Amino acid sequence: MKDRRLTAYMWSMYGLATVALVLTDWTSLASLPGAAVTAWVGLIFIGVLSEGLAIGLSVGAAASTSSITFLPLLAAVQLFGPAAAVVLVCTTQVFGEIVVRRKPLGRALFNVSQVIVGTAIGGVLFLWLGGVPLQVDAVGSAPTITDQLIPFIVFGLVFLAVNHAAVAMAITLSQGLPFRRVWGLVLSNSGASLQDILVAPIALAVAFLYVSFGIGGILVVLLPMLFIRYSYLTTSRLRESNADLLTALVKAIETRDPYTSGHSLRVSRLAQQIAERMGLNRHAVEHVRQAALLHDIGKIEALYTEILRKPDALSPEERAIIESHVTRGEQLLRDLSSVPEDVVKAVRHHHEREDGKGYPDGLLGDEIPTGAKIIIVCDAVDAMLSDRPYRRALSLPLVIEQLEEHRGQQFDNRVIQALVTSDLLTEYAEMMRTNRARATAESLDPSPIPAPMMRPAGRPTRKLRFHS
Ligand SMILES: [Fe+2]
Repeated sequence: MKDRRLTAYMWSMYGLATVALVLTDWTSLASLPGAAVTAWVGLIFIGVLSEGLAIGLSVGAAASTSSITFLPLLAAVQLFGPAAAVVLVCTTQVFGEIVVRRKPLGRALFNVSQVIVGTAIGGVLFLWLGGVPLQVDAVGSAPTITDQLIPFIVFGLVFLAVNHAAVAMAITLSQGLPFRRVWGLVLSNSGASLQDILVAPIALAVAFLYVSFGIGGILVVLLPMLFIRYSYLTTSRLRESNADLLTALVKAIETRDPYTSGHSLRVSRLAQQIAERMGLNRHAVEHVRQAALLHDIGKIEALYTEILRKPDALSPEERAIIESHVTRGEQLLRDLSSVPEDVVKAVRHHHEREDGKGYPDGLLGDEIPTGAKIIIVCDAVDAMLSDRPYRRALSLPLVIEQLEEHRGQQFDNRVIQALVTSDLLTEYAEMMRTNRARATAESLDPSPIPAPMMRPAGRPTRKLRFHS
């Protein structure tokens, strides 16, 4: 049923785009002067080139850097009118969706259709509000920027609104979520749209520079922007490669110890959810996620795992070695210029305590970075809900009791609040229970924990070992 509604919706969008193409006034293109046709083709080329620069990037990164593609569209409607803008958006989107992002044909066609519809509706309103394509209607006095401003703003906003609404509706139908919630999600994730709005004044300037200085006026603005985009994409690619390598490294470290396998990935998911619940901004949430994924990267040497697997109490020397993993992790990440400072600091301080009795610096309360405070709690929750060589996983009520008991001394109040007042902890405990059941079922040995090492399940020793 859901699929049928989605298919019907996608076909409606194809139909609307066809209607928009039929109703577009193509005659305006015939009256374009020769030089204007060159400039128009130049804008299309810049749009395609801008999409082409994103080849090889992940879909998310490519989609989130679309503002320079939006710029030629805005300039085209100003200079040559809606019909020229439709051709431009159609060409760049077909290239972007099929060659760059390699979307399945149906989805690519949907995205091409919705930008055609957005451009066509925006174009009709542009003309209706008195917008004059600068290079088509050269008769009479040339319009000023002030005359063009309102139609231009309306065109941009209508295009973005149709774009967001079309995508939100497709997600609503495919996921069965309420439209308003999806709309909110689409808007909150649209950093790209904000950039799009910011490029609007540049597009206006491009149009008027062209009128005054010809094609050179366009190139003077757009070429540096293409260069900036190229540098940005190269940096993004480097960051992605570094992130992939670090994730692979974390997995490699954890596979040495069956007890901590998957720990960092789980902790990073929980940390991200808590950060979102605490209302941190998008960048801060992402940094918390990265730091949580990398928090134990300092345990790169096998020595750490060997010590941690020992069932006996640690000697002072062994404890010092274990504690050094935070500074070792910090050092490792500092050597990579692409890791943000927030992430490095959160890794360094993920074993501090609110009462100042943690390590490596014995920071007190608010001296501890928020990212580290979140990781401290998630690390402990994951450790308590995992089987260890010396004890079984704690039950959920016992975990809550421990969190409440150590609140303010070991754990930050706000983090615990965000965790216990949501379903996050219950869901996490359920996921851990399922993982344990699956691991037991997959194991040839029905009891993966060496029996002689195991203490009976139940209340843990007063001093919790939260090391993972
Ligand atoms: Fe750690």
